Amino acid sequence: MLNVGIDIGGTKIAGGVVDAEGRIVEKLRVDTPIDAEALLDAVVDMASHFRRSHRVAGIGVAAAGFIDRARRTVIYAPNIDWRNEPLRARLEARLEAPVTIENDANAAGWGEFRFGAGRGVSDMVMLTMGTGVGGAIVAEGSLYRGGNGIAAELGHMRFIRGGHPCGCGQSGCLEQYASGRALQREALEIADDPAIGAGLASLRDEQGTIEGPSISRLVLAGDPGAVEALRRVATALGEACGGFQAVLDPELFVIGGGVAQLGDDLLEPVRLAYETSLPGFGDRPVADFVIARLGNDAGLIGVADLAGRDR
Ligand code: BGC
Ligand code: NA
Ligand code: ZN
Repeated sequence: MLNVGIDIGGTKIAGGVVDAEGRIVEKLRVDTPIDAEALLDAVVDMASHFRRSHRVAGIGVAAAGFIDRARRTVIYAPNIDWRNEPLRARLEARLEAPVTIENDANAAGWGEFRFGAGRGVSDMVMLTMGTGVGGAIVAEGSLYRGGNGIAAELGHMRFIRGGHPCGCGQSGCLEQYASGRALQREALEIADDPAIGAGLASLRDEQGTIEGPSISRLVLAGDPGAVEALRRVATALGEACGGFQAVLDPELFVIGGGVAQLGDDLLEPVRLAYETSLPGFGDRPVADFVIARLGNDAGLIGVADLAGRDR
């Protein structure tokens, strides 16, 4: 059985035709249009393209927002202009076929659980470090969605009292300290530090800002300022994971999103901070930390699988 999965990200829309084992048989990527109508057109075009060339059973679309329990409406999206957006009905009207919608991080977590780093565990938490911080909870083998469908918004747990304002209307959310954007903010701050900021300062002067991928290049080259910026966001994430462990007791944390491309450079400080914030550390079981095995495809693979289950 083949299903289509389309993952609407902050910068790219990634779509694919996915088989029952989670393998992608055809894939497309386009830039995410800023305008909401153009965005819908892009998703419809992509799905239509796939349906012309394959026998498709289900169509799944993942989006970065709070999706209601009936999986019909994007109730709210902190970083996109959607309020009570009837996404499913709009897509179904245009595609003349049933569509499954899911939160982007939930979709990625489900993809990793079924086909990636989480195969074989029953309880895992996924965190995606991109524009925002996304979360997914797999509890006793099922995706945990909560009473209104919008559980696992782990990026909007308050992390710092009186902290930075967040796109969700609150302040101090984990997302403001552990996302790709947070890494940029830390890098810009460190660029002004004469002791370690020289490498970041020259990037800032070249680019006018500091792009995520170039911070990663500096980290890999061992630049002390970039390494410190990464340490700060990794520490925030790891500390939060100590708390998630206390609540959910997962066997595994899977870390995805753009920042996760840094691999062990990211995971080491995450683990360290997790240990320092874990209740009973030293006398209790701990979770493993791994990078998402499906990389940027986790969301599209996961939502394709969810769509297949609905058919
Ligand atoms: C949103 C989540 C989303 C995450 C990652 C957060 O700001 O609230 O719904 O999963 O970003 O895109
Ligand atoms: Na989520
Ligand atoms: Zn928030």
